[in-house]
Amino acid sequence: MSRAFYVTTPIYYVNADPHLGHAYGTSLADTLARYHRLAGEETYFLTGSDEHGEKIAEVAASEGTTPQSVADRYSNAFRETWETIGFSFDQFIRTTDPHHCDVVQTILQRIYDAGQIEFREYEGLYCVGCERFLTERDMEGGKCRDHEREPERQKESNYFFKMSEHFEWLAETLEARPDLIRPERYRNEVLGMLRDESGLGDLCISRPKTRLDWGIELPFDSNYVCYVWFDALINYLTGIGYPDGPNFEKYWASAEHVIGKDILKPHAVFWPCMLRAIGLPPYRHLDVTGFWNVEGRKLSKSLGNAVSPLALKERFGFDALRYFLLRDLAFGSDSDFTEAALVRRINADLANNLGNLVSRTLNMTARYAGGTVPEPGPTGPDEQAIAQLAATTAAQVDESVRRCEPHHALECIFALSDAVNRYLEEQAPWKIAKEQADGWEKRVATTLYTSCQALRSLALLLAPFLPETAPVLLERLGIPDALESARLPDDAARWDALAPGTPTQKGAALFPRIEIEKSN
Ligand code: MSP
Repeated sequence: MSRAFYVTTPIYYVNADPHLGHAYGTSLADTLARYHRLAGEETYFLTGSDEHGEKIAEVAASEGTTPQSVADRYSNAFRETWETIGFSFDQFIRTTDPHHCDVVQTILQRIYDAGQIEFREYEGLYCVGCERFLTERDMEGGKCRDHEREPERQKESNYFFKMSEHFEWLAETLEARPDLIRPERYRNEVLGMLRDESGLGDLCISRPKTRLDWGIELPFDSNYVCYVWFDALINYLTGIGYPDGPNFEKYWASAEHVIGKDILKPHAVFWPCMLRAIGLPPYRHLDVTGFWNVEGRKLSKSLGNAVSPLALKERFGFDALRYFLLRDLAFGSDSDFTEAALVRRINADLANNLGNLVSRTLNMTARYAGGTVPEPGPTGPDEQAIAQLAATTAAQVDESVRRCEPHHALECIFALSDAVNRYLEEQAPWKIAKEQADGWEKRVATTLYTSCQALRSLALLLAPFLPETAPVLLERLGIPDALESARLPDDAARWDALAPGTPTQKGAALFPRIEIEKSN
């Protein structure tokens, strides 16, 4: 297994404020970064903003301001929002960074010198929303499928990257590496695009300055700027010091891109072909997420606060929100975000299952064991079953995270919490303590000892998913520094690691139940 891990989010367009959909992808990348860090891998997490192109120029024109000032405003909004939420990125890259622009120009020149770029006249239907000429497949009823607006017929001389020369290689690579693009249906979609001769061709990578000058100038023709997607994808290289940064190769070999399904084609077709032309191998994985709709509607500006990550954090806490996002949407599928569904999840999983286990275990430890992890009495098959389940859960979580199936990892973690709750019900230490039959103290101690060990495993496994809550739980378990030295998954599978005598604290409910208004 590689000891490095490099994860990226898409870089966000600077024409609107961050919304729930953006926060979802970033939460996923953040969770992967946190998991791999806790697994002892040297991890680098890159996010940022995508600042060139027509969309931004359009906003600036409509506001009577410069594209740079629009870019500055929204780029700051994204960076500040991500910081307030507490995402653990190592760098927030901007495509207007001079260093990034230099790298893009170096790459363009290199590919041009290698004969991979050609100057041609082209006539076609151009969509401003997509920032490219459309093919028939991109349209429905004369309109762009994605933007539902009529493309403009345009004739232009432009530079083309000879992308189609790489399609055969790309199809073979996708066949040979079934987990390059996940989940599998997106890989199949890409194979379909490659088979359909009419669908893809070479890639137009320039825009004449007469039409658009907000972009990186082509190093071999100052009348043109670079197509925004060609510029934007290269951020994944600039971010780790391409071409000769000391960590570049190590990180590139372990690159994992998290993207939404609407940007599959640039990442699954353009990007691997560009990398091949640059002389680099493809990324290790492309993780493609589905889409969140809100109360049955597409996310849009008019939904305002309903989809603002900061407003949702304010109301529900970001751990609860990200738990819902990662748990409710099976990775790769679409889902509908409703407050009622969010509240149901918070109540059922976080309050009633995990929260309840934490409070009853720690309350009983205070009451029957003087507030320290008790010395256990003899253990039996029930205790061994819990210890065994903790070990299996740790292994399942590791596998699920490495497959980018966070919903499954969380399902396993909460199944463990549920099993410990059932174990407590069956053992009923409160009853034993009340009846005070012979040897009752030892029996209660064994039960509480077992629950405390399980809570430790749960807290470690939850740390990448609930980064605010897990440290609180570990502190209550008397091991506030546990995450500093923990190694996942093995440390979560270790039983008996919480020493008897460790002082614990009760604390307030981790996730208080939320009462839903009737209308929901
Ligand atoms: N700038 C490009 C990406 C360039 S990467 C080299 C872009 N930006 S974006 O701001 O429009 O979108 C960023 C990400 O947010 C995309 O992955 C997109 O799929 C995701 N989402 C936008 N709306 C979404 C939902 N409603 N639900 C889930 N993800 C969504 O595309």
